[in-house]
Order: sequence, then C-alpha cells, then structure tokens
Amino acid sequence: MPTILVLHGPNLNLTGEREPAVYGHVTLEEINAQLRAQAREAGFELEIVQSNHEGVLIDSLHQARRRVQAVVINPGALGHYSFALRDAIAAISLPVVEVHLSNIYAREPFRRQSVLADVVTGQITGFGAHSYYLGLAAAIALCTAPQK
Ligand code: DQA
Repeated sequence: MPTILVLHGPNLNLTGEREPAVYGHVTLEEINAQLRAQAREAGFELEIVQSNHEGVLIDSLHQARRRVQAVVINPGALGHYSFALRDAIAAISLPVVEVHLSNIYAREPFRRQSVLADVVTGQITGFGAHSYYLGLAAAIALCTAPQK
C-alpha cells in the first residue's frame, strides 16, 4: 500500500493544550486519528512520528526516503531556522508538504520566514487542524497525479 510519512516537530505533542487561542483545541491524537481515516479512505497508509528533537525528525526522513511516497511535515519552530532539516528535505527526492496550524506569515517577524519554503513542494498555513487535512489531501494528490 502506498505510504505517506507525517512528521510533527517540537511542542506539537501539546497541541490542543498549548496556546489554544493560537493553535486550537484539537489534540494531536485527534488530528492523527482524522489523518489515518482520511488516508485509509484514499487507500494510503500513514507513518506518523512526533519528536521534540531535530535529529529524530532528520533520521525519520532518511529512513523513510525509499519506503514512502510523500511527506507531510509540521516542523514547528524548526521551520524558521533549521538548515539541517532543510538539507534533509532537499536530500530526499520526495514530494513534501509543509503545514502549520497558525498562519506563520501573520505572526511575529521571526515566524514569517520558513527556511524550508523553497525545498518543499508547497505550504499550507493558517487553517488550524485543517492545515494537516489539506496537507494530506495535497500529498495524496501528488502521489496519485504527479505534478507535470
Ligand atoms: C507552528 C508555527 C511555529 O511558528 C511554531 O513554532 C509551532 C507551531 C504551527 O503549526 O502553527 O510550534 O508550526
């Protein structure tokens, strides 16, 4: 079965509890359950990893690179400054969808840049938990009908 890797970066384990006015009330477990149902419906399997450690996210990308067809990643704050995560994404030849719960372009200046922006296939930012669902839909579409 085609497989998509979903990566959640630092602090996202606290989604639903952490700054709900910014990130919403839906928990990461609820998001993951919805993503699994959406994937199943489309005939895809998901591998889901959450880590607060940059190296674990990088290792997950390396290990999945020949096993999965696409990646959905919420890099958390690492997206704003991690050149190592950027290089890992650039190193793998897979479609990658970057998602953020909040609209990073409408927040503090340090959040308004993503160092991943030009190595990912595209970004979905600002739709709360729907960013993930839209991101997964985009990843599935890229696997089903690759971009010309
Ligand atoms: C986030 C946005 C980041 O700026 C922040 O550091 C996060 C969550 C989001 O999903 O909106 O941890 O990636």
